[in-house]
Amino acid sequence: MRNGLRYFVVIFLFIATVSNAAVQSQQSQTREWINRYTPYFISRLTDHISPNDGALGSIIAAKSRKSPDYYYHWVRDAGLAIDAIVQIYPLTPDIYKKNLIRRKIFEYIEFSKKIQQQNTLTGLGEPKFYVDGTSFKDPWGRPQNDGPALRALSLIHFANLLIEEGNEKLVREMLYDNRLPASSPIKMDLEYIAHHWRDPSYDLWEEVKGTHFYTLMVIRRALIEGSMLAHRLNDDGAASWYKSQSRLIETEIEKFFDQSRGHFVPTINRIEGIDYKSSQLDIAVILGLLHGGLNDGFLSWDDKRVTATLEKLIGTFKPLYPINYRSIPGVAIGRYPEDRYAGTHFNGGNPWVLCTLAIAESLYRYAEILKKQGNLRGSDETALRADTFVERVRYHSHQDGTLDEQINRDTGHMTSAQDLTWNYAALLTIRKAVEPL
Ligand code: NOJ
Ligand code: NOJ
Repeated sequence: MRNGLRYFVVIFLFIATVSNAAVQSQQSQTREWINRYTPYFISRLTDHISPNDGALGSIIAAKSRKSPDYYYHWVRDAGLAIDAIVQIYPLTPDIYKKNLIRRKIFEYIEFSKKIQQQNTLTGLGEPKFYVDGTSFKDPWGRPQNDGPALRALSLIHFANLLIEEGNEKLVREMLYDNRLPASSPIKMDLEYIAHHWRDPSYDLWEEVKGTHFYTLMVIRRALIEGSMLAHRLNDDGAASWYKSQSRLIETEIEKFFDQSRGHFVPTINRIEGIDYKSSQLDIAVILGLLHGGLNDGFLSWDDKRVTATLEKLIGTFKPLYPINYRSIPGVAIGRYPEDRYAGTHFNGGNPWVLCTLAIAESLYRYAEILKKQGNLRGSDETALRADTFVERVRYHSHQDGTLDEQINRDTGHMTSAQDLTWNYAALLTIRKAVEPL
């Protein structure tokens, strides 16, 4: 009997070890892939900066020039792309890649200065520019006030990097000085968002005019980080003004939690634009937490309201798309359940690569918090779950690894804008997010 028990225990331990090893290797495979392909993501992204037929420093949103035409410098997409390569810069061992990144960032700074000085229809809230640097003047959803905040964040993060390298003088000459009216690129954007965050603007999907969670989250972050930079550069009056505005914004952001629905909504005070977003569920909230999060305790990933929103989104998209009924890892995620935009026509409503990756990144970030709290098991499980969303994107990618904007909901094929810059930015910030795991 005793022997029987012993055999049982031995066999049990053996099975437990083998299955645990299988889980572990599955987990490291996804993150290993992310690691191994990081240089590739960097190349895909930097290829889109300073295209041959554009001004130095312009960044195309995607390769496609028609159906749909994304061959423009979108201030939002560009800011996100630069911020991603600034984040990845310290993790890049390859000196050649580092120099390439540096050169492209300096080009982007020059281009940004040029477009900030342009006479546009909505000042610094203008969302997109031709690649030669002239502003796009056709009808469009404007202004989009997340743009200047994201541009400021990308420049502030680079400024911090330069200061750490001992190049403060360069920062003062090129990126930030105290003068008013502002003429240095960071201060121009900070002044604009500090004075305009209450104004209604178009959302990041360029479809609804109102007050948006995403826009306020990124503005808040830019003002807080901008305030720290201003303080560092002895611009104390501005530092406290930016900080005080960020506090007011926090109170405003709290209003986006809808008690009766049990999740954060993307927009309040809608005044114009599409009106069929009845669920008020939108991945824009998750993107706002990712791009506007500061790890400072304000709406952290373990906040019950945040986890509720995240789970609701996953649970809503899962049954929505036919491709989610196949046995492929993870769940393909779209912008919002009522979405109709398919690149050219409005017969779509597809999952998007960057939305699926946003769920992955938020779960990795949540896993990091659980790990810090000592909940190792919860952390491992959450990170494994995050892996499945990355696997899902890998599954639908083109043979050569490139990624378009959307995934056809029925066939799983890549569709809409070809080779979307933002997708590679999202993979790079995921690379950063898995670092502590
Ligand atoms: C193009 C925008 O970029 C996209 O987000 C939007 O859905 C369509 N226009 C329709 O407004
Ligand atoms: C459509 C997206 O909705 C918007 O967020 C993005 O800026 C543009 N495409 C360009 O990628």
